[in-house]
Amino acid sequence: MRVKGEITRISGAVVSARGMRGSKMYEVVRVGEEGLVGEIVELHQDTAIVQVYEDTSGITPGEPVTATGMPLSVDLGPGLLGTVYDGIQRPLTAVQAVAGDFIVRGVSIPPLDLKKQWRFVPDRKRGDEISEGDVLGSVHETERMIHHIMVPPGIKGRLKDIVAEGSYPLDHPVAVLEAPEGEKELTLHQKWPVRISRPVKERKEPRIPLVTGQRVIDTFFPLAKGGTAALPGPFGAGKTVVQHQLAKYVNADIIVYVGCGERGNEMADVLRQFPMLEDPWTGGRLMERTVLIGNTSNMPVAAREASVYTGITIAEYYRDMGYDVALMADSTSRWAEAMREISGRLEEMPGEQGYPAYLASRLAGFYERAGMVENLGNPERNGSISVIGSVSPPGGDFSEPVTQNTLRVVKVLWGLDADLAHERHFPAINWLTSYSAYAETVEEWWAGQGKPEWRDYRGELLKVLQRESALMETVQLVGEDVLPEEDKLVLVEAQLVKNGYLIQPAFHPVDTYCPPEKQFAMLELLMEFHRKANLAISKGISAASIGSLPIRSRMERIAMLPMEEFQKERRAIMDEMEAAFASLGRVRAPGGG
Ligand SMILES: Nc1ncnc2c1ncn2[C@@H]1O[C@H](COP(=O)(O)OP(=O)(O)O)[C@@H](O)[C@H]1O
Ligand SMILES: [Mg+2]
Repeated sequence: MRVKGEITRISGAVVSARGMRGSKMYEVVRVGEEGLVGEIVELHQDTAIVQVYEDTSGITPGEPVTATGMPLSVDLGPGLLGTVYDGIQRPLTAVQAVAGDFIVRGVSIPPLDLKKQWRFVPDRKRGDEISEGDVLGSVHETERMIHHIMVPPGIKGRLKDIVAEGSYPLDHPVAVLEAPEGEKELTLHQKWPVRISRPVKERKEPRIPLVTGQRVIDTFFPLAKGGTAALPGPFGAGKTVVQHQLAKYVNADIIVYVGCGERGNEMADVLRQFPMLEDPWTGGRLMERTVLIGNTSNMPVAAREASVYTGITIAEYYRDMGYDVALMADSTSRWAEAMREISGRLEEMPGEQGYPAYLASRLAGFYERAGMVENLGNPERNGSISVIGSVSPPGGDFSEPVTQNTLRVVKVLWGLDADLAHERHFPAINWLTSYSAYAETVEEWWAGQGKPEWRDYRGELLKVLQRESALMETVQLVGEDVLPEEDKLVLVEAQLVKNGYLIQPAFHPVDTYCPPEKQFAMLELLMEFHRKANLAISKGISAASIGSLPIRSRMERIAMLPMEEFQKERRAIMDEMEAAFASLGRVRAPGGG
């Protein structure tokens, strides 16, 4: 018997209903004559408080509220990839869907196409003992992606039956399990409640870099597979552009992109671009490895609250198969604002800046679902979820609660800077405020790639940038002229590192993505310049003459060259470097020696 009550009060996305005794916390309910989707967030004896995922305008007290007996869940199975969903996993098909009007209220559309047939290849046989996480078999979800059909968490028993290789729709039982509690049928899909993380065997330390092709990130503030990063920045500083770059280029197997409360046209841009873009890692289409969750500013606020959970649960499901997943959430501030609005409607005691007291624990709970893990079940495998969350602090003030509570849990900070964006230094990641706790761990990976120097190069160049910023204080007070030549050289070098390395225009056809080997080759050039320049200074050559060397400006442009030309130019600069610096010596001491 389903609990059925009636609406007593409506306050925006929050609805009260009486006659709800017997329903459970976090149970999904259908609200009003239209059957809007909602979730019970408070229970007081007979009364349930429901957050409603759809626009509540027009519904009135007295209309029915029906419990479904299910917590808010996502449907997990083949067909997720390439799909665009709203915050509660309803498929959105057209671009207009996210840019404008979207779904008719109260309509239930299955998240996965239940009629579509998938060619299932079994891996197990009748009589096998199986348990949670075991791979029963697989289907080709896309041309390149193998989707493992796994035994859902919490289930074990003996395989009484398993189908032969063939094509089956999602709901078709492909295996029958004999378990102590009775027989159980397993299909090609499974449901999982979004607010509960999917279990793993063991959590591991993230050690392998998640390569992004963005130099300032990979070289100076690297993220590891299974790691967490925050991308805070004021409006217009480039959060969305960086997130799009990551979605396009990170070397993860699966991308989950949560567009959370941002402008609809940005989400529409993604939908227009991604299907046309090639996946640089597989040569396939980018959309084939991507799941998009769109809950833009024009959509109901409660669904935005849920969208982040929907996204991370889908990410966990692919992680469980043994894949590296990267999840981008743009922006977690809009998510927090949704929490604040709902909390206000619930008349909860407000915390800092009106956010609920549980803001910190919700943020932590979300980022804790990231990680490098050993998966449950056989065959043995590891998977990872890397999470990158944008934060949009009002006025760019990082001391506000969402930024602060995020920085307490993430291991990487890419701090976007309004001044850099204003100077059109993009990506506007400030190298003085940013940090990465993975820099030391990923050193080993670079050493394993035959590049043990990476660590020293990174350290040296970071030092140049830091020294420059310290010197700039003096320069602003009394000008550059008073500096000793070696300090003037720091300014020259820092300029070169900024213009030739840190700046990387997202919309340049070549430089939009810089592979690790190209990054390293550029570091080698910079270091060679660094060594030779310092030697020259020690011999009495002026920083100004070093700064005016033609190879310097060539080094500033080299990133824009496609790989083949790049290699040619790199060798040419290397070959000429010696002569270039030697020529400075001659200029200074004509006829001497
Ligand atoms: N990496 C980049 N390369 C080139 N231009 C950029 C880059 N990042 C940002 N921009 C410019 O700044 C504008 C605002 O960036 P956006 O990502 O929308 O800011 P935010 O999301 O922080 O409000 C972009 O439309 C683009 O013109
Ligand atoms: Mg944005």
